[in-house]
Amino acid sequence: MRFARRSLLLIAVAIVTIATLVIPAGGLTTATDPESSESDRAANLLSQMTLEEKLQQLQLLSDGQITDADAKAGVGAVFSLTDAAKINHFQHVAVDQSRLHIPILFAYDTIHGYRTIFPVPLGAASSFDPSVVTADDTVAARETATVGIKQIYSPMVDVSHEPRWGRIVEGAGEDPYLGSVFAAARVKAAQGTDYSAADKVVASVKHLAAYGQPEGGREYNTTDMSEQRLRNLYLPPFKAAVDAGVGTAMCSFNAINGVPGCANQQTETDILKREWGFGGFIESDYTAVAELRACPPKTPDNGPCGHGVAADGPDAAQAALNAGTDSEMVSTNIRDFGKQLLAQGRISMSRINDAVRRILRVKLRAGLFEHPYVDQAKAVDPKSFLTADDRAAARSAAGKSMVLLKNDGGTLPLDPSKSVAVIGPLGNDQHDMLGPWWGQGRDADAVSVFAGIKAQNPKTTFTQGCTILDKDPPTNTPADECGSDAGFQAAVDAANKADQVVLALGESRGMSGEAASRVEIDLPGKQQELIDQIKKTGKPFVVVLFNGRPLTLGNVDASSPAILESWFPGVEAGNAVADVLFGKVNPGGKLPVSFPRELGQIPIYYNHEPTGRPCDPTSKYNSRYRDLPSCDPLYAFGFGLSYTKFSVTNLRLNTQSVSKDGKVTASVDVANTGSRIGDDVVQLYIHDPVASISQPVRRLRGFQRVPLEPGKTQTLSFTLNSSDFGFYDNRGKFVVEPGRIDVYAGDSSNADLVQSFTVSG
Ligand code: BGC
Repeated sequence: MRFARRSLLLIAVAIVTIATLVIPAGGLTTATDPESSESDRAANLLSQMTLEEKLQQLQLLSDGQITDADAKAGVGAVFSLTDAAKINHFQHVAVDQSRLHIPILFAYDTIHGYRTIFPVPLGAASSFDPSVVTADDTVAARETATVGIKQIYSPMVDVSHEPRWGRIVEGAGEDPYLGSVFAAARVKAAQGTDYSAADKVVASVKHLAAYGQPEGGREYNTTDMSEQRLRNLYLPPFKAAVDAGVGTAMCSFNAINGVPGCANQQTETDILKREWGFGGFIESDYTAVAELRACPPKTPDNGPCGHGVAADGPDAAQAALNAGTDSEMVSTNIRDFGKQLLAQGRISMSRINDAVRRILRVKLRAGLFEHPYVDQAKAVDPKSFLTADDRAAARSAAGKSMVLLKNDGGTLPLDPSKSVAVIGPLGNDQHDMLGPWWGQGRDADAVSVFAGIKAQNPKTTFTQGCTILDKDPPTNTPADECGSDAGFQAAVDAANKADQVVLALGESRGMSGEAASRVEIDLPGKQQELIDQIKKTGKPFVVVLFNGRPLTLGNVDASSPAILESWFPGVEAGNAVADVLFGKVNPGGKLPVSFPRELGQIPIYYNHEPTGRPCDPTSKYNSRYRDLPSCDPLYAFGFGLSYTKFSVTNLRLNTQSVSKDGKVTASVDVANTGSRIGDDVVQLYIHDPVASISQPVRRLRGFQRVPLEPGKTQTLSFTLNSSDFGFYDNRGKFVVEPGRIDVYAGDSSNADLVQSFTVSG
């Protein structure tokens, strides 16, 4: 049987090889004729390719790996090369010297900006305003494409309940609905309606899947996941990206239930490609195919390994390709062993063809065959990047992303006519403001908090107090993370001389992002002691936080009158902070992720399932911690204050009962009852109280950020349908069950207005 299958495959290979030799030269015409559809052109090109050429297309190399020989052999893609001259060089080799003249797809991690750095994605999600990421990805796509790069490894849409995990900074937080809205907005902005346009790129949604839930919050760690959680919590933003037309996807490092992301037929082929009809290609993450291999015991290094679902390189290539991975990043197993695997009948020509076709279609859609080269003059022209408009967009995005966590006694806004002491390790910092995926952003471009505040109030001083350095832990000394209080007296002196104090505290950018899990998530080092010292001066002060994850802020909250969560705001950090502190911009952001009181509460997230013993801190046998007199996070999902006041009232539904495929409209009034113009984010949650499997206590299903003048009221409407009140069960089936649905509205996940309707059977 095995022999018969192998013989058939060999015959098929022979037919394809002969066909390749006899294809008339005119065949190329279709492949290069922009009038014929991408699928026809890809099929035509494919029919002319040798097996070696096909395997080359499945290879994705880094900037440090690519050689002229690879380009000449027809390598598929290259990432992280940003020098337009080099990009043109390799493109010329590929187009002029490879047999079929297929251009290379150049890619880059443009995550929150290329040169114009916007707020980190967790910050952008805090805006609850998708126009923020539309602005980010519009500028980012244009700047990226300007150097000749046509693919970005973004959006990163991993839902996460793990603040210990450094990469929580790259996604939109803990909620699948919010994550879906932001994923779709990023894809649409990056790709436009046609990503062959000179200022557009093809997006790659990542990391498929459930990479945001590593055990213990430890980077790259394994994940064990019920089918319903996978589908209800982690997959929706991927689906939203696919529905928005995302052209490519990346499979993840982690395993789900023992199956690594890049060898996972269920997520890659069954769900993404078949169920959702994704027609693009999937690249592996960095050496993720090689990592499928078992590590040999105590041997010389034979490269990346670990998952142990493949014995060796050929096995890894087989597992990845057959599961649905189309392109291998950095490691070269598919390219190296594809021929042998095909001859052995372990992979099929139809699967190779499918993968190549997917890659060619993206290249054709990207217009690379018509426009393979980049305009080098434009690529090095400073006017192409970080324009005044780009900076203005980044500043506005940063302001919209900030969340006011506390403001006792109207500490904020600060009085711009009174003197300010900026104090703290991040107070005059440009480097960390750019966050952990700074792309081609430059420290010198960034506006520090001190510079931003001084520009709006010349009576401003800066005193560092202690240092936070962006160093990797092995070379770190405790002093690098505010481990020394030697500078505190100078900070206290500066505070005493000023009318008001801005304390700029938080993490270095290297404490967040990839490979930056933390076991403690409080303010590093002695920063809390610095707060305590400043508090003793009796001066009014605000803590402005820069960080890439929820922090445990119990002590900060207890000791500080005002706290502004700024995340890593990007290139316009200081200007945006000053806008908010002086009240030019009224903060309207809301938390996209819960902030625990204590580390031991993790995972804590608003959309958790109920238990038979709901938390009650006043009695014993229920779901609580005996050493924590509270059930809640310190700051809830969807929470954020403003300099004005809002009231959300009068929730009503247009019907009390609806069929399974019907619609319900919920309306609610929001009023600005304070004295300043400001934005509120009205949020709509639902709960299904009786279902075949326990449903989350709340699920966000709508939000609108609205600016309102003082005294003004606005009515907002939200439409709900079966995609909102249905859910996936543990067999992976989407079900809409009859019964009552409760609808909550307000301006945080603690929203307390409630109405109900019934879904009829
Ligand atoms: C990351 C990806 C990234 C890739 C290429 C990997 O280590 O996990 O998110 O796109 O590197 O830079």
